[in-house]
Amino acid sequence: MRELAGKTAFVTGGASGIGFALGRAFAEAGMKVMLADIEPDALAAAVESLQSFGSGVRGVSCDVADPASLERAANASYEAFGNVHVVCNNAGVAAGGGIDNISIENWRWVLDVNLMGVLHGVRTFLPHIRAHGEGGHIVNTASMAGMQTGLGFSPYGASKFAVVGMSEGLAAQVRPLGIGVSVLCPSFVRTRIGESGRNRQQCYGPMPSLDPNSPAAAVVAEIASRLQAGLEPAAVAARVLDAIRNDELYVFTHPNMREEVDERFAAIQAAMDKVVC
Ligand SMILES: NC(=O)c1ccc[n+]([C@@H]2O[C@H](COP(=O)([O-])OP(=O)(O)OC[C@H]3O[C@@H](n4cnc5c(N)ncnc54)[C@H](O)[C@@H]3O)[C@@H](O)[C@H]2O)c1
Repeated sequence: MRELAGKTAFVTGGASGIGFALGRAFAEAGMKVMLADIEPDALAAAVESLQSFGSGVRGVSCDVADPASLERAANASYEAFGNVHVVCNNAGVAAGGGIDNISIENWRWVLDVNLMGVLHGVRTFLPHIRAHGEGGHIVNTASMAGMQTGLGFSPYGASKFAVVGMSEGLAAQVRPLGIGVSVLCPSFVRTRIGESGRNRQQCYGPMPSLDPNSPAAAVVAEIASRLQAGLEPAAVAARVLDAIRNDELYVFTHPNMREEVDERFAAIQAAMDKVVC
């Protein structure tokens, strides 16, 4: 979608981090923007901080894990701005733990938000984009954790691998309709993802605490310091806008991750070389 000005973008997880940076970049490109998020105070502050764009930026409360909530948010967006053209299924959470101590509630929470949330976004907006026929682009936020399993046995990696696979399938399906798909795969970005527990819905119970002396706690601390030293969200957003304009499927932001991906593909190819029949 070469021309963004005058179109409308809907961004989940738009109150913070990458989603907020996407919202700002879309507004700067002349788009109308609906930021959708589960955290009301942060959402109000995010909209307020973009007031220089006037009424072209608004916020709507939404839990992506709940399809009815996303549907309501979509309707609020149609009412405010008319047709939606760019959808960023970006809301996400992270929960760690070692192989033996990730609670089943953590698995459910992370998969419901990171994977089902993306699915709900696609199911909500794809029929709308097809029907209005003005063109569209869907951006699904995965992660480098969807390209290689550096985080070990983790619901986060599982959710992100699934988002990559789902996006590849979706891209092939909607290309003939003139609808683009991108899957965003960043490594560490300076955001609040390390504090995801702040948005954990009650139905998943309290965030389990980690034994501070456990290997899992050491991994969490290491991740927190790498997030602090991570890329600025605005740089990620700039890359995404470029990918939308040039209709690119894979969106990478960290060139230093190439080696890890190469290693994984080389191992897969070496295994394929052993196939004899
Ligand atoms: N920060 C990183 O290093 C990094 C790297 C790769 C991928 N990502 C992905 O980027 C996306 C954005 O995360 P971020 O890093 O900007 O973190 P963030 O915590 O700063 O922002 C995430 C936003 O999602 C919202 N959110 C959480 N649960 C929600 C729900 N159920 N419904 C609606 N909104 C919800 C939060 O309120 C928050 O505003 C996530 O999908 C994350 O997995 C982040």
